Amino acid sequence: MTLNEIRRRYLDFFRTRGHTVLPSAPLVPENDPTTLFVSSGMQPLIPYFLGQPHPVGTRIANSQKALRTQDIEEVGDNRHTTFFEMLGNWSFGDYFKKEEIPWLYQFLTEEIGLPAERLFVSCFEGDDIFHIPRDEESAEIWKSLGIPSERIYFYGSEKNWWSRAGTPKQMPTGEPAGPDTEVFYDFGTPHDPVYGNECHPNCDCGRFMEIGNAVFMMYVKKDEHTFDLLPKRNVDFGGGLERIAAALNNKNDIFLIDPLQTIIRELAAGSGKNYDDLDYRASFRIVTDHVRAAVFMLGDGVLPSNTERGYVLRRLIRRAVRHANTLGVKEKTIGRIIDGIIAIYRAEYPALSASHSAILAGFAEEENRFKKTLSQGMKEFEKVVAKGAVAGEDAFILFTTYGFPYELTEELARERGASISRDEYEKAMRAHQDLSRAGASRKFAGGLADHSEATIRYHTTHHILLKALRTILGPDVHQRGSNITAERLRMDFSSPAKMTPEQIAEAERLVNEIIREELPVIRTVMPKAQAEKLDAEREFGVTYPEIVSVYSIGPKDATEADPKFSQAYSIEFCGGPHVTNTAEIHKGGTFRILKEEAVGSGVRRIKAVLE
Ligand code: ALA
Repeated sequence: MTLNEIRRRYLDFFRTRGHTVLPSAPLVPENDPTTLFVSSGMQPLIPYFLGQPHPVGTRIANSQKALRTQDIEEVGDNRHTTFFEMLGNWSFGDYFKKEEIPWLYQFLTEEIGLPAERLFVSCFEGDDIFHIPRDEESAEIWKSLGIPSERIYFYGSEKNWWSRAGTPKQMPTGEPAGPDTEVFYDFGTPHDPVYGNECHPNCDCGRFMEIGNAVFMMYVKKDEHTFDLLPKRNVDFGGGLERIAAALNNKNDIFLIDPLQTIIRELAAGSGKNYDDLDYRASFRIVTDHVRAAVFMLGDGVLPSNTERGYVLRRLIRRAVRHANTLGVKEKTIGRIIDGIIAIYRAEYPALSASHSAILAGFAEEENRFKKTLSQGMKEFEKVVAKGAVAGEDAFILFTTYGFPYELTEELARERGASISRDEYEKAMRAHQDLSRAGASRKFAGGLADHSEATIRYHTTHHILLKALRTILGPDVHQRGSNITAERLRMDFSSPAKMTPEQIAEAERLVNEIIREELPVIRTVMPKAQAEKLDAEREFGVTYPEIVSVYSIGPKDATEADPKFSQAYSIEFCGGPHVTNTAEIHKGGTFRILKEEAVGSGVRRIKAVLE
């Protein structure tokens, strides 16, 4: 069964069980300040676990593009990839364990035909410190389905508790979480005692692979010591599409699944090397994974750069180029691989076709930029490594002069048994007052920092400001990014020229006027086509579902039943949250623009406060 076939069957399975199937959200998160990339299917859905109604209802499913940047250096073994697809089904206060677990079991065993006797499961053993009970109920359901107790394991908060931010202790307040039940596939390979005396589902010896994980999202962290129950009990299931395909192959190597094999065959043809040759296998896997990840990142509008998302892409492309060199691939091979990846995925992700040439060009440009300095850089590296250690200053020069991302130098140093220190490298960076530290995986990249009253006030003010800018500077002004905290708002917007002091003063005046008018702010759920007809402002590069949520501000007598869109001051596609009336912003103070500056060609940035 191909990857595309498994995905289709999964989505159909849940569609016939009342789920609305949504397209994947982009890899670049919207309104989520905590991460650079979407790394799980639930990430774009956080507000709905916290209680906000989802515009399409209480049951949804999708296959979500995801990227885990902490796994970059792990790629090369049999199971790590940076890019992957997560099959997801969700209940927002609808069904719970009694439906989820039997459906999951039925899907895996009947629908796609995994042998039941190869499945092991794990359940939550409870957490005494936070008073979260042991999950006997899930274990009982598994038993009723025929999974014997010997194949049911209990683990604590390190393994069977799921939140975006780790264990109950590690999580920040306000974050939703819950115990989970996980399904593992047993490849039946012999246990390797290096990993301990006993083999069990979470053992790292390679016998078991986790293929899916149903989180019973029912708690929210209240403070350092306590969890509250969420208003409703939710289900958050995530299944690794590629891992399920590997289990179906019954081969303990994720790179043997069909789309990745297509890439590997192309690489073998272009290099004359063989995937079975252990000297080259890791390079095959690295190029395969990284090129596929880069295709999806470029497709979602990420461009190589020296900071944040762009830096992750740069690292992936450069690492792929280095390993393609190790394999000795011929000219044009990578271009053919990119064509092949798009051909495999375009039915599910049609936007890839539209950006096909931009993806090819974006990759080739970065590849060429790196190739210009790669061989000289390698010579420089050889000189440096001959000393037995790579000094921070050397790693810095390798990056700034030869374009070797630090992690690449570190990997090369490790291969040669030379020591290297990130701290020293960063010290050298700071000393040269160069780039901001790049590549951190968890960073405040945009959207709302939290859902506090102050942040929400700034969020609504952000909508008013955008409309004011469009009024003053013209309708070509659109939002390009936002970053909103309890202290201030920041907006990036498209506009060719610097604003004059008069335009800034006028924007401040207009925003304050709207705030003082005490206009109602109204959320309406409607079909996307209707929102488009209203000319609602949309976010750049975002694909919206068929049913969307729209926020309108004013007129004074607008109500939820009669939003009077034709007289509204502003209408935007937006998931919220917002104040219910601009009068609430007034409490925050008077709106003032602190700064207006350029951040890129044709993109300006405003920082503003309520004080
Ligand atoms: N949110 C869960 C995960 O990412 C399902 O594993």
